[in-house]
Amino acid sequence: MKIACLGGGPAGLYFAISMKLRDAAHDITVFERNKPDDTFGWGVVLSNETFENLAKNDSLSAGEVRRHFAYWDDIAVHYRGQKIVSTGHGFSGIARKKLLQLLQQRARGLGIALRFETEIASAAELAKTHDLVVAADGLNSRTRNEFAAHFKPGIETRKNKFVWLGTHQKFDDAFTFIFEESAHGWIWAHAYQFDADTATFIVECADDTWQKFGFGAMSQDENCRACEKIFSKYLGGHRLMSNAAHVRGSAWLNFPRVLCETWSYENIVLMGDAAATAHFSVGSGTKLAMESAIAMANYLRSEPTMAAAFAKYEDARRTEVLRLQSAARNSLEWFEDVERYLHLDPVQFNYSLLTRSQRISHENLRLRDKEWLEGAEAWFQRLAGAGDNTVRRPMFAPFRLRDMRLKNRIVVSPMAQYKAIDGCPTDWHLVHYGERAKGGAGLVCIEMTCVSPEGRITPGCTGMYAPAHEAAWQRIVDFVHTETDAKICCQLGHSGAKGSTQLGWEEMDAPLQSGNWPVLAPSEIAWSPRNQVARAMTRADMDLVRDQFVASAEMAARANFDMLEIHCAHGYLLSSFITPLTNQRTDAYGGSLENRMRYPLEIFHAVRAAWPAEKPISVRISANDWVGADGIEPRDAVAISRMLQEAGVDICDVSAGQTSIDARPVYGRMFQTPFSDRIRNETGMATMAVGNIFEPDHVNSILMAGRADLVCLARPHLADPYWTLHAAARIGDRGETWPQPYYAGRDQLYRISGSAKPVPTAV
Ligand SMILES: Cc1cc2nc3c(=O)[nH]c(=O)nc-3n(C[C@H](O)[C@H](O)[C@H](O)COP(=O)(O)OP(=O)(O)OC[C@H]3O[C@@H](n4cnc5c(N)ncnc54)[C@H](O)[C@@H]3O)c2cc1C
Ligand SMILES: Cc1cc2nc3c(=O)[nH]c(=O)nc-3n(C[C@H](O)[C@H](O)[C@H](O)COP(=O)(O)O)c2cc1C
Repeated sequence: MKIACLGGGPAGLYFAISMKLRDAAHDITVFERNKPDDTFGWGVVLSNETFENLAKNDSLSAGEVRRHFAYWDDIAVHYRGQKIVSTGHGFSGIARKKLLQLLQQRARGLGIALRFETEIASAAELAKTHDLVVAADGLNSRTRNEFAAHFKPGIETRKNKFVWLGTHQKFDDAFTFIFEESAHGWIWAHAYQFDADTATFIVECADDTWQKFGFGAMSQDENCRACEKIFSKYLGGHRLMSNAAHVRGSAWLNFPRVLCETWSYENIVLMGDAAATAHFSVGSGTKLAMESAIAMANYLRSEPTMAAAFAKYEDARRTEVLRLQSAARNSLEWFEDVERYLHLDPVQFNYSLLTRSQRISHENLRLRDKEWLEGAEAWFQRLAGAGDNTVRRPMFAPFRLRDMRLKNRIVVSPMAQYKAIDGCPTDWHLVHYGERAKGGAGLVCIEMTCVSPEGRITPGCTGMYAPAHEAAWQRIVDFVHTETDAKICCQLGHSGAKGSTQLGWEEMDAPLQSGNWPVLAPSEIAWSPRNQVARAMTRADMDLVRDQFVASAEMAARANFDMLEIHCAHGYLLSSFITPLTNQRTDAYGGSLENRMRYPLEIFHAVRAAWPAEKPISVRISANDWVGADGIEPRDAVAISRMLQEAGVDICDVSAGQTSIDARPVYGRMFQTPFSDRIRNETGMATMAVGNIFEPDHVNSILMAGRADLVCLARPHLADPYWTLHAAARIGDRGETWPQPYYAGRDQLYRISGSAKPVPTAV
């Protein structure tokens, strides 16, 4: 085959090498606009895993590359006058220039033609004279633009500014992050050694800081001098250097996240940064480029046609790219939002930084640096008031809200059972909640319990509007208090326009087959075209419902619940006041967010006055309507939480969605936790996170990184009422209390899960 590689970066060179190794008869030319030694950037990082892939593909070049690696194991973070070091991270770095020289040398040795200082104006022209054109022309790929209609590139320009500098100051003991507070805002560096006397020094900051410094108007030299001043404490008198002479202006960039919908066109295929990029903070751009080169060479050999090879290549590499881009997105967003975390204690800040991409979990961190993690766990427990010598996972730290003390951070999330009769809980509820309270969670939250018969969602929903309800709930609460050390919370709600619908396991949110009752809402709106149109509430209706909430709260207090939660989420009455999607009122209760919050806050104040002062109240919200700018977005959720916080709400239970049939949620592990994170760290309010959290590892990393104070698990508690006790046994924590009659079962479980070494509860 006659092959043209457009671009002599890692992708183009390594593809040429990989093809030639598979068949020496290929006639391959690499076209590169720069000279062999001209290169932007400084060092690149490769993981051990990538290195093994390179060694399997070409042991010779891999061996040469390895000889020039700089290795380090530690990550050091300079923050608020402290240097925090953790170990076990295992990186290696090499100068980009060296890597390219080694690849050039290897390519020459294999008989590949290298044509430097050759600008290619059009891949289409090359395609006429070659069987295959590999467009590895980098981040600003001209080929991608030439065939944009076909490749359909998605390019997202990220917010922060960064510049890739170098220095002779040594950072050879650790990959180093330096966060500095300047007169113009925070600015930080990512620094790592890549050969005996040079280190990469990437400087990054928010656009606002960048503007205030006036970096955009400086020459590259002036930029270096300005950055030297900012980071002088860490540079030991060494200079910062730029080698981006080929880049016009100051060389600062905004990172473009690139992903093409299609990666090939006729005999042209995109590779490396031209096809997809990964943010530099996960250090994987070169890895993606080189591993894509290997994959393409393999498929061109294994597949019968070039089209089949392209299809396989695109399929396999897209999956890998998406995985990396997801981690990279978490990581780059962390840096974009870093101001949110800059109030954290250095221990928590470091943890948050290390786990930012969500590729490193709590237990993974333990494998890397047990000592550091145990120190961090002890810090967490100390802060939680567990005693100075406690080293346990964060999920087993106590928590206090007003006078309510929880033994741990696990919450059984409210879940409708649809088993009530005329609003009255039955033996089902006694057994259901009793089991979950026995199962080890610190707090059990009962299902949405309705303040009136019309305020029920379904005929099977529980209520708190009749003496019989109060008595039945009291029996359940008494059981929980007598037989367990869990606390129990009553969630009060009103269904609004989503009322008068079928049981959860029938047709959810659909009207009843018969016996529908009229429903109330802020505006005359139906939940869906199939549901009845709600009657818009008058002031008299609002007074009535407010009084119903108060009466229910008084009953809950007499039933001796430990905590109340007011349900302002999921499209039910109070939630439908908050979201503009369903609140179209023109009075003082519609329009601005302040107005839309007025009625839910009125209810809260009235309930708070009736609820014992020593007991806490939480409010559950939908932090995202998942419909874009027309509905509630996370930024609005922060404003909502501030209002709740000012009103005296003790904790915000941060859920999302279920407010519109047009919602398009983006699901995934812990998918709603970022909203809790944002609220907690921007307002300082305590939060509960919920949504697809199902592993102890998830819970621990959320708590330890300060993304929530409590963690709610719903479906995992349907599958296993004993989730907490089982999780503790599995991870070797022996500190949780089991019901006495179950000791024999506990001991057997401890024995059979004994491979996990017990974690001491005190040292
Ligand atoms: C600040 C920063 C830090 C980074 N850190 C790391 C890291 O630590 N680890 C890591 O793995 N990756 C890192 N990367 C990413 C990495 O540099 C790229 O992902 C990688 O270089 C991609 O390789 P490539 O071959 O696709 O593109 P490139 O390396 O960009 O190569 C493309 C080549 O094509 C040439 N070219 C373009 N157009 C033409 C044309 N019309 N005619 C002729 N030649 C042309 C260019 O001159 C260039 O040499 C970082 C990137 C940045 C911006
Ligand atoms: C069967 C079921 C019933 C639910 N009922 C309620 C409810 O009454 N009140 C409420 O706020 N959330 C309710 N939810 C939502 C859960 O509390 C939780 O927010 C959601 O299931 C996501 O958590 P998970 O991924 O751990 O299941 C319910 C969820 C389920 C599965």
